[in-house]
Amino acid sequence: MARKNPPLPKIETEIERLINASRKALAFSRPLYSGFRVGAAVEAADGRIFTGSNIENASLGLSVCAERVSLLKALSEGAADLKAIAVVCENGETCYPCGSCRQMLLEFAPGIRIILPSEKSVKVLTIGELLPLPFIKEPPKR
Ligand code: THU
Repeated sequence: MARKNPPLPKIETEIERLINASRKALAFSRPLYSGFRVGAAVEAADGRIFTGSNIENASLGLSVCAERVSLLKALSEGAADLKAIAVVCENGETCYPCGSCRQMLLEFAPGIRIILPSEKSVKVLTIGELLPLPFIKEPPKR
């Protein structure tokens, strides 16, 4: 009797893993005023993944983007060498990071790959592509 091969487990690539983590973070978004959910996930060189979602506040200027939530979670837990960040929004379109997030990524993770999936494509960009001619200032030596 012919034996059937058992089904293979699905193996996620590193990029898929990060994109899936960013999609899960959409559920924790607090888009109380805009109604617009964004999810992000940062991958550190040690393999840890830190997710973030946009958190809004009645004092609108205090709202924080998903990218910065994930970045600050990673930095504040000691993950210094950040390899990639995936960003998704629930409307299925490419969610380009805002200017403030680009500036923060440049300073704390200049070599990071920025993974932007949409329903149609997955774009992989560098900070240099997203933020040409940036403002850079060396912090004072202590
Ligand atoms: N937002 C992000 O979280 N990331 C982006 O890249 C763009 C915008 C958030 C901020 C605000 O909570 C909502 O999306 C609508 O602007």
